[in-house]
Amino acid sequence: MKIALASDHGGFTLKEEIEKHLIERGFEVLDLGTHSEESVDYPVYGKCIGEAVMAGEADCGVAFCGTGVGISIACNKVKGIRCAVATNCFMAEMAKKHNDANILALGGRILAPAEAVEILDRWLDSTFEGDRHARRVRLLDEM
Ligand code: RB5
Repeated sequence: MKIALASDHGGFTLKEEIEKHLIERGFEVLDLGTHSEESVDYPVYGKCIGEAVMAGEADCGVAFCGTGVGISIACNKVKGIRCAVATNCFMAEMAKKHNDANILALGGRILAPAEAVEILDRWLDSTFEGDRHARRVRLLDEM
């Protein structure tokens, strides 16, 4: 399974930590940048990772900015993307089980790396429940 990663400068350090973790877990990673703490615009990176996931260049994605909010808004502008910000494990689990989120957004300025790893792992290890949730996800995708 291949996972795309993208961040702005506010999420850069956390992206690097998460990339190491994903590789240790045996995932293939597509790092779409940014590659330093130099200031960049999160909408550019949100669009890039959203389009990469929709083009099938990766199976899903993890996006980072200072809070996770800005880049999630950008990702969700790409049709077919369901990007969820998670600040705890329950949010991450529900984002997969109920919303079938195809991108998880994490905040580099609000999560310690160890917390972010737990949240990410919960999302990766949860499974979409389908059924009534599939109907709701279909309604989202029709918007
Ligand atoms: C950049 O300073 C910051 O605004 C950005 O990383 C993010 O938190 C936006 O939502």
